[in-house]
Amino acid sequence: MPWLEWLSLFVRWFHVIAGVAWIGASFYFIWLDNSLREPPQQKKDQGIKGDLWAIHGGGFYEIAKYAHGPQTMPEKLHWFKWEAYSTWLSGMALLILVYYFGASAYLIDPSVQALSPLQAVLFGLGFIAIGFGVYEIACRSPLGQYPTVFGVALALFITFTCWLAAHLFSGRGAYIHVGALVGTIMVANVFLVIMPSQRKMVHAVSNNEPIDPAWGAGAKLRSVHNNYFTLPLLFIMISNHYPQTYQHDMNWLVLALLMAVSAWIRHFFNLKHHGVIRPAILVSGFLAMLAIAVWVSWPKASFSSEHNAKTTIEETQQESSLVSVQKMTDQQERIENLIATHCRSCHSATPTSELFKVAPLGVVLDNWQDISRYKAQIIHRTTVTRDMPFLNKTGMTDAERQILSKW
Ligand code: HEC
Repeated sequence: MPWLEWLSLFVRWFHVIAGVAWIGASFYFIWLDNSLREPPQQKKDQGIKGDLWAIHGGGFYEIAKYAHGPQTMPEKLHWFKWEAYSTWLSGMALLILVYYFGASAYLIDPSVQALSPLQAVLFGLGFIAIGFGVYEIACRSPLGQYPTVFGVALALFITFTCWLAAHLFSGRGAYIHVGALVGTIMVANVFLVIMPSQRKMVHAVSNNEPIDPAWGAGAKLRSVHNNYFTLPLLFIMISNHYPQTYQHDMNWLVLALLMAVSAWIRHFFNLKHHGVIRPAILVSGFLAMLAIAVWVSWPKASFSSEHNAKTTIEETQQESSLVSVQKMTDQQERIENLIATHCRSCHSATPTSELFKVAPLGVVLDNWQDISRYKAQIIHRTTVTRDMPFLNKTGMTDAERQILSKW
């Protein structure tokens, strides 16, 4: 479906632009807030509690943060909310376009759960909605009063969602659903808590009423969570390029660890903005990343022998069913042969290709069930975009492509 591919391109492009604007603004304001210094007396008299000077793009900037609010409302007040909203909206659109329209290829892995596309989509939406509901209730419960305990509980909860998603969906689908859940929590924090408390503040200033410090405090917990979620979420956004992560046997643990370590690295930068430099955090973070990478790549041999065992069983099963049924049509046989010759060197649980040691994008074409699952993509990539076999390494001929296009 070429129009779907184009739609997906434009929506993804927009999603990345909106995400850059959102995370960029968020990084900037966190840096700003953490970098404010005590202002001179004359500014303090105006109610300013912190200020800083910056130079950028050929000019000097003087920024001031008020302890409560300005005396009168400025004519133009800038809000930052559409960056977040448009990132979420385009992200959801992309989730639907790629993973829900393409559920059988991308979201469902029959070896994890043999879901129907409708079931998979409902589980996906339910996963995001329920996960978000649990977070929201926890924030409003007494647990919200203990930020550190809450932080630990949140990390455990996210780890659990990684495990759950990996036991419902394909590797890619699981990662993206944890990302969608985290993104939803972050945007809802803006929409449900941070924006309303800012509206109350603006209302108070406009009506010359005092600002209740509790408004800002309620939003504080949520901003801290959003701050630590940024790096993990950015990894998930690019994770579909890295099948070694989401295809791993313990893919949920790989994800949970990468999220935890990237949040730890974020902690270094948060402290640094305050002038506290703790190289140990950064070093331990990088070492932990390295350890994860080594662990994920290490047990290859044992994994592949396991996979080998699996495929041999599958093959024998297939062979025996072949013998007993003897019903495989000519067409199916021809297509299976084509795939075996031209695709399986890369798209297999045990690739033989020099270039790819893991099936690219997790596309495994080891048996007829796999092949049927990816039917639309196979036809598209061999006969429309014609970029498969990759760089035509296996020399697929036009006549062979014809056979696939007639499928
Ligand atoms: C030399 C290795 C190699 C061979 C052989 C190969 N592919 Fe691929 N395939 C790749 C790589 C690499 C990618 C990822 C490209 C990308 O990022 O878009 C890929 C991606 C794909 C995708 C896209 C998956 C997605 O989610 O977008 C499909 C479908 C696919 N290949 C089908 C095939 C078929 C069918 C054949 C045989 C006719 C084949 N490939 C042969 C390396 C290979």
